[in-house]
Amino acid sequence: MRVPHGLLGIEDLTREEIQEVLDRSRNFQPRDRGKLDLLRGRMVVNLFFEASTRTRTSFEIAAKRLGADTISITAQASSVSKGESLVDTLNTLAAMRPDAIIMRHAASGAPHFLQRYLDTPIINAGDGTHEHPTQALLDARTILDRGAALEGLRVAIIGDIAHSRVARSNVYLLSKFGAQIVLCGPASLLPVELQRIAPGITLTTNMREAICQADVIMMLRVQLERQHEASFPASEYFQFYGLRLEHLELARPNVIVMHPGPINRGREISSEVADSQRSVILSQVENGIAVRMAVLERVLRGVRN
Ligand code: NCD
Repeated sequence: MRVPHGLLGIEDLTREEIQEVLDRSRNFQPRDRGKLDLLRGRMVVNLFFEASTRTRTSFEIAAKRLGADTISITAQASSVSKGESLVDTLNTLAAMRPDAIIMRHAASGAPHFLQRYLDTPIINAGDGTHEHPTQALLDARTILDRGAALEGLRVAIIGDIAHSRVARSNVYLLSKFGAQIVLCGPASLLPVELQRIAPGITLTTNMREAICQADVIMMLRVQLERQHEASFPASEYFQFYGLRLEHLELARPNVIVMHPGPINRGREISSEVADSQRSVILSQVENGIAVRMAVLERVLRGVRN
């Protein structure tokens, strides 16, 4: 069987491959509203087994902007709700010969497992607590838009690190480019094994220490839906790990504040920060389209060439 080149994770990509996607994304500015025909006649299936606003819409718009046709299926509307297995669902969709399947699933490793059975390329739109490769790509693009190279930048990633596929993909990407990464959160949400991915990484439970001299602050949502331990102290969380205006004074003067969304105002970030000049949260959303266009073009053009 031909090995399809989808996009399962940042872990599998080289620095050069990442750079190519980021460079190519600069040719696709969502503000240029026109429709291209680079992927005309191609068909992309969006298969989401978990809630999503940004990622699903962003992939769909990206595919349409490139001239491809798209179909979106959510788990509730699929035959998974009739007891069909994941492999059977994917084989059924693949038999209809789409050019790529974009999928999000609550189980870590689900797309990697399925890719072994399918010759349709799979693009991972988030698998459990594992990876969310296009999020890390759009985050890198957003950081680079500020002008600086990633090498040597101090990036503080703060919040529920343990359950965050966004953190993991960013750690893979940023470490490949030599950024200085600080992971911060309550001890129970701060897995030491991430140090194995990038040995130079710093872990701290102290938010002020993490933010000190940071060039980039990346906030994460507390993923209550993935926490199976009893009674998370939600009310105290903001006091210790919520980003407020006073924190920004500890960072570099031109610090940017990022968040993959959805944001919970008053939980992990204050409204004043989310709406401040330092916040690039909506630029991340905008860049998501350009980066996903570059990813789709790369995956779909690789299919038949
Ligand atoms: C993230 C996700 O689903 O992993 N959201 C996103 O894709 N923009 C983060 C989150 O849900 O908190």
